[in-house]
Amino acid sequence: MTFHVIVASRSGSTAERLAARLTKHPEFRVKTRVIGNGHPDPLYGVSELPDLLFLHYGSGQSELQFLAEQGTRDHLPLIVCGPENDPEAMRLAMRAGARDYLPENVSEADLVASLARIQEETLRARTSGSGKLIVFTNGKGGSGASFLSTNLAHSLVVDGGHRVTLVDLDLQFGGLCRYLDITPKVGILEALDAAHDMDEVSAKAYTCEHSSGLRLLAAPSKHLALPNEIPIEKLDSLLDFFLSNNDYVVADSPSRLDAVTEFFLERADKIVLIVQQSLPHIHDAARLLQLLTSEIVIPKKRISVVVNRFSKSAPIELGDIKKTLRQDKLITIPNQYKLATESINSGIPVAEISKTAALTKGIRNLQAALVDSASKPSQNFLKRALPMFLRERMS
Ligand SMILES: Nc1ncnc2c1ncn2[C@@H]1O[C@H](COP(=O)(O)OP(=O)(O)OP(=O)(O)O)[C@@H](O)[C@H]1O
Ligand SMILES: [Mg+2]
Repeated sequence: MTFHVIVASRSGSTAERLAARLTKHPEFRVKTRVIGNGHPDPLYGVSELPDLLFLHYGSGQSELQFLAEQGTRDHLPLIVCGPENDPEAMRLAMRAGARDYLPENVSEADLVASLARIQEETLRARTSGSGKLIVFTNGKGGSGASFLSTNLAHSLVVDGGHRVTLVDLDLQFGGLCRYLDITPKVGILEALDAAHDMDEVSAKAYTCEHSSGLRLLAAPSKHLALPNEIPIEKLDSLLDFFLSNNDYVVADSPSRLDAVTEFFLERADKIVLIVQQSLPHIHDAARLLQLLTSEIVIPKKRISVVVNRFSKSAPIELGDIKKTLRQDKLITIPNQYKLATESINSGIPVAEISKTAALTKGIRNLQAALVDSASKPSQNFLKRALPMFLRERMS
Protein backbone atom coordinates (compact mmCIF):
# COMPACT_ATOMS: atom_id res chain seq x y z
CA MET A 1 0.00 0.00 0.00
CA THR A 2 1.37 3.42 -0.92
CA PHE A 3 1.03 5.80 1.95
CA HIS A 4 0.15 9.38 0.98
CA VAL A 5 1.86 12.04 3.04
CA ILE A 6 1.52 15.82 2.87
CA VAL A 7 4.51 17.69 4.24
CA ALA A 8 3.23 21.15 5.17
CA SER A 9 5.33 24.12 6.24
CA ARG A 10 5.31 27.89 6.07
CA SER A 11 8.59 27.61 4.23
CA GLY A 12 8.69 25.95 0.81
CA SER A 13 12.38 25.11 1.16
CA THR A 14 11.88 23.44 4.57
CA ALA A 15 9.00 21.36 3.18
CA GLU A 16 11.20 20.28 0.25
CA ARG A 17 14.14 19.50 2.55
CA LEU A 18 11.98 17.27 4.76
CA ALA A 19 10.28 15.59 1.80
CA ALA A 20 13.69 14.87 0.25
CA ARG A 21 14.42 12.49 3.15
CA LEU A 22 11.70 10.22 1.81
CA THR A 23 12.69 10.12 -1.87
CA LYS A 24 14.44 6.74 -1.44
CA HIS A 25 11.27 5.25 0.02
CA PRO A 26 8.71 4.53 -2.69
CA GLU A 27 6.22 3.23 -0.08
CA PHE A 28 5.54 6.88 0.77
CA ARG A 29 4.01 9.18 -1.86
CA VAL A 30 4.92 12.64 -0.68
CA LYS A 31 3.51 16.02 -1.64
CA THR A 32 4.62 19.32 -0.18
CA ARG A 33 2.40 22.22 0.72
CA VAL A 34 3.29 25.77 1.64
CA ILE A 35 0.98 27.22 4.28
CA GLY A 36 0.00 30.82 3.56
CA ASN A 37 -1.07 33.47 6.03
CA GLY A 38 -4.71 33.34 4.94
CA HIS A 39 -5.91 30.29 6.87
CA PRO A 40 -4.52 28.47 9.91
CA ASP A 41 -5.72 25.03 8.73
CA PRO A 42 -2.68 23.41 7.10
CA LEU A 43 -5.06 21.37 4.93
CA TYR A 44 -7.23 24.31 3.92
CA GLY A 45 -8.44 23.84 0.34
CA VAL A 46 -6.89 20.35 -0.01
CA SER A 47 -9.45 18.29 -1.92
CA GLU A 48 -7.74 14.90 -1.85
CA LEU A 49 -6.82 14.15 1.77
CA PRO A 50 -3.56 12.25 2.36
CA ASP A 51 -3.14 9.32 4.77
CA LEU A 52 -1.01 11.47 7.08
CA LEU A 53 -0.19 15.12 7.66
CA PHE A 54 3.43 15.89 8.48
CA LEU A 55 3.45 19.43 9.82
CA HIS A 56 6.55 21.51 10.22
CA TYR A 57 5.96 24.00 13.02
CA GLY A 58 7.87 27.12 13.99
CA SER A 59 7.33 28.72 17.43
CA GLY A 60 4.32 31.00 17.58
CA GLN A 61 2.78 29.90 14.28
CA SER A 62 -0.99 29.57 14.45
CA GLU A 63 -1.59 26.27 12.64
CA LEU A 64 -0.75 23.98 15.58
CA GLN A 65 -2.98 26.04 17.88
CA PHE A 66 -5.71 25.63 15.25
CA LEU A 67 -5.24 21.84 15.16
CA ALA A 68 -5.15 21.70 18.98
CA GLU A 69 -8.58 23.35 19.01
CA GLN A 70 -10.19 21.71 15.98
CA GLY A 71 -8.25 18.48 15.40
CA THR A 72 -7.22 17.42 11.91
CA ARG A 73 -9.87 16.99 9.25
CA ASP A 74 -11.37 13.47 9.33
CA HIS A 75 -9.08 12.68 12.33
CA LEU A 76 -6.17 12.36 9.94
CA PRO A 77 -3.02 11.07 11.66
CA LEU A 78 -0.61 13.91 12.40
CA ILE A 79 3.15 14.07 13.00
CA VAL A 80 4.61 17.38 14.09
CA CYS A 81 8.18 18.38 13.44
CA GLY A 82 9.35 21.41 15.36
CA PRO A 83 11.93 23.02 17.61
CA GLU A 84 13.60 20.67 20.06
CA ASN A 85 13.06 21.20 23.80
CA ASP A 86 10.06 23.44 23.25
CA PRO A 87 7.46 22.35 25.83
CA GLU A 88 4.77 24.66 24.42
CA ALA A 89 5.11 23.16 20.94
CA MET A 90 5.00 19.62 22.36
CA ARG A 91 2.00 20.44 24.49
CA LEU A 92 0.14 21.84 21.49
CA ALA A 93 1.15 18.82 19.42
CA MET A 94 -0.24 16.50 22.09
CA ARG A 95 -3.48 18.46 22.29
CA ALA A 96 -3.76 18.27 18.50
CA GLY A 97 -3.57 14.46 18.87
CA ALA A 98 -0.15 14.23 17.16
CA ARG A 99 1.12 10.66 17.01
CA ASP A 100 4.72 11.80 17.18
CA TYR A 101 6.87 14.91 17.62
CA LEU A 102 10.18 14.98 15.77
CA PRO A 103 13.01 17.53 15.89
CA GLU A 104 13.61 19.74 12.84
CA ASN A 105 16.89 17.98 12.08
CA VAL A 106 15.26 14.53 12.27
CA SER A 107 17.31 11.81 10.64
CA GLU A 108 16.02 9.92 7.63
CA ALA A 109 15.93 6.70 9.68
CA ASP A 110 13.87 8.22 12.53
CA LEU A 111 11.47 9.87 10.11
CA VAL A 112 10.92 6.67 8.14
CA ALA A 113 10.47 4.63 11.35
CA SER A 114 7.83 7.03 12.64
CA LEU A 115 5.92 7.06 9.33
CA ALA A 116 6.16 3.29 8.95
CA ARG A 117 4.68 2.74 12.40
CA ILE A 118 1.65 4.91 11.63
CA GLN A 119 1.32 3.34 8.18
CA GLU A 120 1.17 -0.10 9.81
CA GLU A 121 -1.39 1.02 12.39
CA THR A 122 -3.54 2.62 9.69
CA LEU A 123 -3.41 -0.52 7.58
CA ARG A 124 -4.31 -2.69 10.55
CA ALA A 125 -7.28 -0.47 11.40
CA ARG A 126 -8.48 -0.50 7.78
CA THR A 127 -8.17 -4.23 7.19
CA SER A 128 -9.89 -5.15 10.40
CA GLY A 129 -12.51 -2.66 9.17
CA SER A 130 -14.23 -2.81 12.46
CA GLY A 131 -14.69 -1.59 15.97
CA LYS A 132 -13.28 -3.16 19.10
CA LEU A 133 -15.06 -5.68 21.28
CA ILE A 134 -14.81 -5.17 25.05
CA VAL A 135 -16.31 -7.95 27.18
CA PHE A 136 -17.05 -7.45 30.88
CA THR A 137 -17.32 -10.42 33.15
CA ASN A 138 -17.02 -11.22 36.85
CA GLY A 139 -15.63 -14.07 38.86
CA LYS A 140 -18.49 -13.79 41.31
CA GLY A 141 -22.08 -12.52 41.01
CA GLY A 142 -22.70 -8.99 42.25
CA SER A 143 -19.17 -7.70 41.53
CA GLY A 144 -20.49 -4.83 39.43
CA ALA A 145 -19.92 -6.11 35.88
CA SER A 146 -23.33 -5.02 34.59
CA PHE A 147 -23.19 -1.66 36.31
CA LEU A 148 -19.65 -0.91 35.09
CA SER A 149 -20.15 -2.19 31.53
CA THR A 150 -23.20 0.06 31.13
CA ASN A 151 -21.46 3.11 32.56
CA LEU A 152 -18.27 2.42 30.64
CA ALA A 153 -20.26 2.18 27.39
CA HIS A 154 -21.99 5.45 28.29
CA SER A 155 -18.60 7.09 28.95
CA LEU A 156 -17.25 5.89 25.59
CA VAL A 157 -20.14 7.77 23.97
CA VAL A 158 -20.22 10.96 26.03
CA ASP A 159 -16.51 11.39 26.90
CA GLY A 160 -14.93 9.63 23.92
CA GLY A 161 -17.45 10.62 21.22
CA HIS A 162 -17.54 7.00 19.98
CA ARG A 163 -20.32 5.00 18.35
CA VAL A 164 -21.12 2.23 20.82
CA THR A 165 -23.54 -0.67 21.11
CA LEU A 166 -23.92 -2.36 24.49
CA VAL A 167 -24.89 -6.05 24.32
CA ASP A 168 -26.58 -7.90 27.17
CA LEU A 169 -25.43 -11.53 27.16
CA ASP A 170 -27.32 -12.59 30.26
CA LEU A 171 -30.00 -14.42 28.31
CA GLN A 172 -32.00 -15.48 31.36
CA PHE A 173 -31.94 -12.47 33.64
CA GLY A 174 -30.41 -9.74 31.47
CA GLY A 175 -31.38 -6.43 32.98
CA LEU A 176 -29.15 -3.84 31.32
CA CYS A 177 -32.27 -2.19 29.92
CA ARG A 178 -33.20 -1.22 33.48
CA TYR A 179 -29.76 0.33 34.10
CA LEU A 180 -30.63 2.71 31.22
CA ASP A 181 -34.37 3.00 31.87
CA ILE A 182 -35.20 1.50 28.49
CA THR A 183 -38.04 -0.91 27.69
CA PRO A 184 -37.03 -3.03 24.70
CA LYS A 185 -39.61 -4.95 22.70
CA VAL A 186 -37.07 -7.14 20.94
CA GLY A 187 -33.47 -8.07 21.57
CA ILE A 188 -30.62 -10.39 20.76
CA LEU A 189 -32.71 -13.50 20.04
CA GLU A 190 -34.86 -11.71 17.48
CA ALA A 191 -31.77 -10.04 15.99
CA LEU A 192 -30.16 -13.48 15.57
CA ASP A 193 -33.02 -14.58 13.30
CA ALA A 194 -32.25 -11.65 11.01
CA ALA A 195 -28.45 -11.84 11.47
CA HIS A 196 -27.55 -12.74 7.89
CA ASP A 197 -29.54 -9.87 6.35
CA MET A 198 -28.83 -7.20 8.95
CA ASP A 199 -28.40 -3.67 7.67
CA GLU A 200 -28.29 -0.31 9.42
CA VAL A 201 -32.04 0.18 9.24
CA SER A 202 -32.94 -3.23 10.65
CA ALA A 203 -30.21 -2.96 13.30
CA LYS A 204 -31.98 0.12 14.61
CA ALA A 205 -35.17 -1.89 14.97
CA TYR A 206 -33.46 -4.57 17.08
CA THR A 207 -31.61 -2.12 19.34
CA CYS A 208 -32.84 0.71 21.57
CA GLU A 209 -31.26 4.14 21.69
CA HIS A 210 -30.50 5.83 24.99
CA SER A 211 -30.75 9.65 25.07
CA SER A 212 -26.91 9.82 25.12
CA GLY A 213 -26.72 8.06 21.75
CA LEU A 214 -25.63 4.72 23.27
CA ARG A 215 -27.46 1.79 21.68
CA LEU A 216 -28.48 -1.35 23.56
CA LEU A 217 -28.98 -4.83 22.14
CA ALA A 218 -31.06 -6.16 25.02
CA ALA A 219 -31.48 -9.72 26.30
CA PRO A 220 -35.05 -10.20 27.50
CA SER A 221 -37.28 -12.20 25.27
CA LYS A 222 -40.69 -13.82 25.59
CA HIS A 223 -39.10 -17.26 25.23
CA LEU A 224 -36.23 -18.85 27.06
CA ALA A 225 -33.21 -19.67 24.93
CA LEU A 226 -30.51 -21.94 26.23
CA PRO A 227 -27.03 -20.89 25.15
CA ASN A 228 -26.36 -24.19 23.36
CA GLU A 229 -29.46 -23.68 21.20
CA ILE A 230 -28.02 -20.48 19.74
CA PRO A 231 -26.50 -20.94 16.29
CA ILE A 232 -22.92 -19.69 16.60
CA GLU A 233 -22.59 -18.85 12.90
CA LYS A 234 -25.49 -16.44 13.27
CA LEU A 235 -23.92 -14.95 16.38
CA ASP A 236 -20.73 -14.53 14.37
CA SER A 237 -22.55 -12.62 11.58
CA LEU A 238 -24.39 -10.50 14.11
CA LEU A 239 -21.20 -9.53 15.93
CA ASP A 240 -19.41 -8.81 12.63
CA PHE A 241 -22.25 -6.52 11.66
CA PHE A 242 -22.23 -4.58 14.94
CA LEU A 243 -18.43 -4.30 14.95
CA SER A 244 -18.43 -2.90 11.44
CA ASN A 245 -20.99 -0.27 12.42
CA ASN A 246 -19.57 0.82 15.77
CA ASP A 247 -16.30 2.00 17.21
CA TYR A 248 -16.92 -0.24 20.22
CA VAL A 249 -19.20 -3.12 21.09
CA VAL A 250 -19.33 -3.56 24.87
CA ALA A 251 -20.77 -6.88 26.07
CA ASP A 252 -21.85 -7.75 29.60
CA SER A 253 -21.24 -11.45 30.05
CA PRO A 254 -22.26 -13.67 32.95
CA SER A 255 -19.24 -15.46 34.44
CA ARG A 256 -20.65 -18.87 33.40
CA LEU A 257 -18.71 -20.32 30.52
CA ASP A 258 -21.09 -21.57 27.86
CA ALA A 259 -21.20 -21.57 24.06
CA VAL A 260 -22.31 -17.94 23.86
CA THR A 261 -20.04 -16.41 26.50
CA GLU A 262 -17.05 -18.42 25.24
CA PHE A 263 -17.65 -17.16 21.72
CA PHE A 264 -17.62 -13.52 22.92
CA LEU A 265 -14.61 -14.03 25.19
CA GLU A 266 -12.63 -15.59 22.34
CA ARG A 267 -13.41 -12.73 20.00
CA ALA A 268 -12.82 -9.97 22.56
CA ASP A 269 -10.12 -7.37 21.97
CA LYS A 270 -10.26 -6.70 25.69
CA ILE A 271 -11.76 -8.70 28.57
CA VAL A 272 -12.48 -6.73 31.71
CA LEU A 273 -12.69 -8.95 34.77
CA ILE A 274 -14.40 -7.30 37.74
CA VAL A 275 -13.42 -8.32 41.26
CA GLN A 276 -13.91 -6.95 44.75
CA GLN A 277 -11.63 -6.98 47.77
CA SER A 278 -12.84 -10.20 49.38
CA LEU A 279 -11.40 -13.70 49.46
CA PRO A 280 -14.34 -15.39 47.67
CA HIS A 281 -14.17 -12.79 44.86
CA ILE A 282 -10.45 -13.21 44.43
CA HIS A 283 -10.66 -16.97 44.61
CA ASP A 284 -13.30 -17.09 41.86
CA ALA A 285 -11.46 -14.52 39.76
CA ALA A 286 -8.28 -16.61 39.95
CA ARG A 287 -10.22 -19.65 38.80
CA LEU A 288 -11.81 -17.76 35.91
CA LEU A 289 -8.44 -16.29 34.87
CA GLN A 290 -6.97 -19.76 34.84
CA LEU A 291 -9.84 -21.08 32.70
CA LEU A 292 -9.59 -18.13 30.32
CA THR A 293 -5.84 -18.37 29.79
CA SER A 294 -5.35 -22.13 29.83
CA GLU A 295 -8.64 -23.61 28.59
CA ILE A 296 -9.80 -20.98 26.11
CA VAL A 297 -6.17 -19.90 25.56
CA ILE A 298 -6.75 -16.16 25.68
CA PRO A 299 -3.50 -14.16 25.79
CA LYS A 300 -2.99 -12.67 29.27
CA LYS A 301 -2.39 -9.18 27.94
CA ARG A 302 -5.93 -9.11 26.57
CA ILE A 303 -7.37 -9.28 30.10
CA SER A 304 -7.62 -6.27 32.45
CA VAL A 305 -8.59 -6.77 36.08
CA VAL A 306 -10.70 -4.07 37.73
CA VAL A 307 -11.06 -3.90 41.51
CA ASN A 308 -14.53 -2.48 42.01
CA ARG A 309 -15.76 -0.82 45.22
CA PHE A 310 -12.12 -0.25 46.07
CA SER A 311 -11.29 0.98 49.55
CA LYS A 312 -7.78 1.71 50.80
CA SER A 313 -8.72 0.58 54.29
CA ALA A 314 -9.97 -2.87 53.25
CA PRO A 315 -7.96 -5.71 54.80
CA ILE A 316 -7.12 -7.20 51.40
CA GLU A 317 -4.71 -4.83 49.68
CA LEU A 318 -4.00 -4.30 46.00
CA GLY A 319 -0.58 -5.95 46.39
CA ASP A 320 -2.26 -9.15 47.64
CA ILE A 321 -4.66 -9.17 44.67
CA LYS A 322 -1.82 -8.52 42.21
CA LYS A 323 0.16 -11.41 43.65
CA THR A 324 -2.75 -13.87 43.74
CA LEU A 325 -4.03 -13.01 40.27
CA ARG A 326 -0.51 -12.57 38.84
CA GLN A 327 -1.31 -9.11 37.47
CA ASP A 328 1.24 -6.28 37.12
CA LYS A 329 -1.49 -3.69 36.96
CA LEU A 330 -4.96 -3.30 38.45
CA ILE A 331 -7.55 -0.63 37.71
CA THR A 332 -9.60 0.54 40.69
CA ILE A 333 -13.13 1.95 40.90
CA PRO A 334 -14.08 3.58 44.20
CA ASN A 335 -16.87 2.39 46.42
CA GLN A 336 -19.78 4.85 46.29
CA TYR A 337 -22.83 2.90 47.25
CA LYS A 338 -25.35 5.74 47.42
CA LEU A 339 -24.61 7.03 43.93
CA ALA A 340 -24.40 3.52 42.43
CA THR A 341 -27.76 2.61 43.96
CA GLU A 342 -29.39 5.86 42.86
CA SER A 343 -28.10 5.27 39.31
CA ILE A 344 -29.38 1.70 39.17
CA ASN A 345 -32.75 2.47 40.76
CA SER A 346 -33.42 5.42 38.48
CA GLY A 347 -31.88 3.94 35.31
CA ILE A 348 -29.68 7.02 34.92
CA PRO A 349 -25.92 6.57 34.20
CA VAL A 350 -23.77 7.93 37.03
CA ALA A 351 -22.18 10.65 34.87
CA GLU A 352 -25.65 12.10 34.27
CA ILE A 353 -26.26 12.28 38.04
CA SER A 354 -22.86 13.73 38.97
CA LYS A 355 -20.04 14.73 36.64
CA THR A 356 -17.56 15.17 39.47
CA ALA A 357 -18.23 12.23 41.81
CA ALA A 358 -15.28 9.93 42.51
CA LEU A 359 -17.21 7.05 40.95
CA THR A 360 -17.81 9.03 37.73
CA LYS A 361 -14.11 9.92 37.57
CA GLY A 362 -13.21 6.28 38.14
CA ILE A 363 -15.38 5.20 35.23
CA ARG A 364 -13.87 7.94 33.04
CA ASN A 365 -10.39 6.70 33.95
CA LEU A 366 -11.41 3.16 33.08
CA GLN A 367 -12.65 4.43 29.72
CA ALA A 368 -9.34 6.17 29.07
CA ALA A 369 -7.40 3.06 30.06
CA LEU A 370 -9.38 0.83 27.72
CA VAL A 371 -9.62 2.90 24.55
CA ASP A 372 -7.53 1.94 21.62
CA SER A 373 -3.87 2.76 22.25
CA ALA A 374 -3.53 3.49 18.52
CA SER A 375 -5.04 6.90 19.02
CA LYS A 376 -2.56 7.81 21.75
CA PRO A 377 0.75 9.52 21.10
CA SER A 378 3.63 7.11 20.60
CA GLN A 379 5.73 5.97 23.55
CA ASN A 380 8.70 7.73 21.94
CA PHE A 381 6.79 10.98 21.86
CA LEU A 382 5.80 10.64 25.51
CA LYS A 383 9.32 9.63 26.53
CA ARG A 384 10.66 12.81 24.97
CA ALA A 385 7.90 15.11 26.17
CA LEU A 386 7.39 13.97 29.77
CA PRO A 387 10.81 14.81 31.27
CA MET A 388 10.48 18.27 29.78
CA PHE A 389 7.03 18.85 31.25
CA LEU A 390 8.23 17.59 34.63
CA ARG A 391 11.29 19.89 34.56
CA GLU A 392 9.01 22.79 33.72
CA ARG A 393 6.69 22.01 36.62
CA MET A 394 9.59 21.81 39.10
CA SER A 395 11.13 25.12 38.04
N1 LIG B 1 -18.42 1.16 42.59
C1 LIG B 1 -19.51 0.79 43.29
N2 LIG B 1 -19.78 1.38 44.48
C2 LIG B 1 -20.86 0.98 45.19
N3 LIG B 1 -21.72 0.05 44.81
C3 LIG B 1 -21.51 -0.58 43.64
C4 LIG B 1 -20.40 -0.22 42.81
N4 LIG B 1 -20.46 -1.01 41.72
C5 LIG B 1 -21.54 -1.79 41.83
N5 LIG B 1 -22.18 -1.55 42.99
C6 LIG B 1 -23.37 -2.25 43.50
O1 LIG B 1 -23.22 -3.62 43.27
C7 LIG B 1 -24.45 -4.20 42.87
C8 LIG B 1 -24.21 -5.32 41.88
O2 LIG B 1 -23.77 -4.78 40.64
P1 LIG B 1 -24.05 -5.53 39.25
O3 LIG B 1 -25.47 -5.94 39.12
O4 LIG B 1 -23.47 -4.68 38.21
O5 LIG B 1 -23.15 -6.84 39.46
P2 LIG B 1 -22.87 -8.01 38.43
O6 LIG B 1 -21.40 -8.31 38.54
O7 LIG B 1 -23.38 -7.71 37.09
O8 LIG B 1 -23.68 -9.22 39.07
P3 LIG B 1 -24.40 -10.49 38.40
O9 LIG B 1 -23.33 -11.53 38.27
O10 LIG B 1 -25.43 -10.90 39.40
O11 LIG B 1 -24.96 -10.08 37.08
C9 LIG B 1 -25.27 -3.07 42.30
O12 LIG B 1 -26.56 -3.15 42.80
C10 LIG B 1 -24.62 -1.79 42.76
O13 LIG B 1 -25.44 -1.11 43.65
MG1 LIG C 1 -24.75 -8.68 35.84
